[in-house]
Amino acid sequence: MMLKGRTALVTGGTRGIGRAIAERLLREGVVVAICGRSSASVERAVEELASSGGGKIYGTQADIASVNDVRQLFAFADRELGGTDILINNAGVAVLRHIAEMSPEQWERTIAVNLTGVFHCCREAVAQFRRRGGGFIINIGSLLGKTAVTGGAAYCASKFGLNGLSEAMLLDCRHENIGVCTIVPGSVNTELFGTPAGADWKIQPDDVAQVVVTVLEMPQRTLVSRVEMRPLRPPQ
Ligand SMILES: NC(=O)c1ccc[n+]([C@@H]2O[C@H](COP(=O)([O-])OP(=O)(O)OC[C@H]3O[C@@H](n4cnc5c(N)ncnc54)[C@H](OP(=O)(O)O)[C@@H]3O)[C@@H](O)[C@H]2O)c1
Repeated sequence: MMLKGRTALVTGGTRGIGRAIAERLLREGVVVAICGRSSASVERAVEELASSGGGKIYGTQADIASVNDVRQLFAFADRELGGTDILINNAGVAVLRHIAEMSPEQWERTIAVNLTGVFHCCREAVAQFRRRGGGFIINIGSLLGKTAVTGGAAYCASKFGLNGLSEAMLLDCRHENIGVCTIVPGSVNTELFGTPAGADWKIQPDDVAQVVVTVLEMPQRTLVSRVEMRPLRPPQ
């Protein structure tokens, strides 16, 4: 699709990968809305993104685990952007803990954000895309949705589940001019897992953003439905 003048909703655009995607889309002439759980971090990110020289950026507080917040988020995008052409399901949380030490709350929260939250957003987006004649959803999955790691019961379950959601949704939607792609990165240089960002060997958030733009810009006849990304040279 031609990106200039399109509208995009990026969940969790206050930092990390979502922030880089928002910044890159703005540079491509897309009108972007972001969300995050705290108003203060959304406001700060919107201010910084606005001064980075891109196009029009909007933001609102929304917890994607809440079906009500998600309804309001899409209503906000309707109002401010005039509707949504592209949904980037990026918001996510991670807890790595031995199964015996993982609390039910940690399990439930991880699934609620990383899997059910994506469902809430897709459901709203697809209803809107139908009215607009099409649209595109990119889900940010993880290589930990393909290969398990120690301590990853909740996170891996959420990302394994996201693959199933994405693949089934693709089949539901492909004849309605709605594309679905899952981008599946390995280690990205953010603070998601509680380690400070700064590792040069990791995939950088901008690299994921570059793939987002490439996927969206493919000719209309071709859908890139899954992209796996890995650091070329992880520590041995
Ligand atoms: N970093 C990696 O190595 C890696 C690898 C593969 C995949 N991923 C995936 O990439 C995505 C982004 O991760 P990241 O590394 O950029 O993490 P991050 O730096 O921690 O950023 C997470 C973003 O999600 C937002 N967020 C979290 N929970 C939310 C909720 N319930 N509702 C709305 N927004 C929420 C956060 O904003 P607030 O805190 O303001 O709410 C923040 O903007 C996640 O889906 C993650 O699973 C990351």
